[in-house]
Amino acid sequence: MHSFDILVLGDINVDLILGPQARPVFGQVETLVDDAELTVGGSGAIFAMGAAKLGLCVAQCGVVGDDSFGRFLLASLHSRGVETRGVVIDPSAKTGLSVHLRADSDRAILTYLGTIDSLSAERIAEDLPAQARHLHISSYFLQHKLRAGLPHLLRRARAAGTTVSLDTNWDPSERWDHGLPEVLALVDVFLPNEQEALAITGCADIESALEALAATVPTVVVKQGAAGASCRQGARRYYDPGFAMPTVVDTTGAGDSFNAGFLYGVLHNWEIPGALALACACGAASTQAVGGTAAQPDLAQAKGLIRRRDEADATAAMLQ
Ligand SMILES: Nc1ncnc2c1ncn2[C@@H]1O[C@H](COP(=O)(O)OP(=O)(O)OP(=O)(O)O)[C@@H](O)[C@H]1O
Ligand SMILES: [Mg+2]
Repeated sequence: MHSFDILVLGDINVDLILGPQARPVFGQVETLVDDAELTVGGSGAIFAMGAAKLGLCVAQCGVVGDDSFGRFLLASLHSRGVETRGVVIDPSAKTGLSVHLRADSDRAILTYLGTIDSLSAERIAEDLPAQARHLHISSYFLQHKLRAGLPHLLRRARAAGTTVSLDTNWDPSERWDHGLPEVLALVDVFLPNEQEALAITGCADIESALEALAATVPTVVVKQGAAGASCRQGARRYYDPGFAMPTVVDTTGAGDSFNAGFLYGVLHNWEIPGALALACACGAASTQAVGGTAAQPDLAQAKGLIRRRDEADATAAMLQ
């Protein structure tokens, strides 16, 4: 018996989001902003909170400092029911922090890494990965201390029947390698966005990228922002157009909420179209509030979005 549906090996940090207009002026100028929000950031933590909100039993591995930001993050994860015994509190380091300065539809982000990249395989209790049905790895390129021990950890977990998903996010060094091919061979579900899929494969278009990745990974899902998402499983190709949202407040973490929705479907043995629709609904819903976790939907809310889209599609088809 597994203790958890999903164990997340992931980055955790706080996001301090200032806006809606926050343009700094140097020269000791004090600029007032209309809103400030301290939220849970880090792809791993946003994913864990989203998966837990959908009703999955989630545990998180990561590192925080022994400070107020670290305590805020642990309390936030607990408030969603995420198990945090795999989160190491490192008294010798400070919790990572991103400051988001929003302006119009753009933003500038200042990040202090702190503990964001501090997780390593040695810091993960040996018995933990095999206790989960599924392992999700976030921000592969950012978690550079985790990479060395990852192939061994994944082989052991897979031998115990645990499946694996991976979201690389962007590679700040833009080298797009760092041992990724070896890890991809141990992954069941790969979830890059479109730019990442193209950069990783060196392909010029999404079809070729899906085909190249599907040669190694059984299920490849490519996120395409407001245009929805594509999936390839062997020779089968799927597409979901996503959800047109009248207003978009903040897209931070949309990809992580999407991942949570897709894996909810996979872990409940849904067919791919259903899993893709739930994923897109979770991604779209998450854009409706500032930060990555405030607007994450529960299962009923996500299904409600899908039902309303189905009804609108049926009406449009009737009128044709
Ligand atoms: N503006 C939007 N309107 C509607 N849905 C959106 C929008 N942006 C994102 N989504 C939904 O969220 C999903 C994931 O978003 P996106 O493609 O931006 O992922 P990502 O680049 O991995 O995001 P992240 O910044 O979290 O890493 C999309 O496939 C889509 O379903
Ligand atoms: Mg992403």
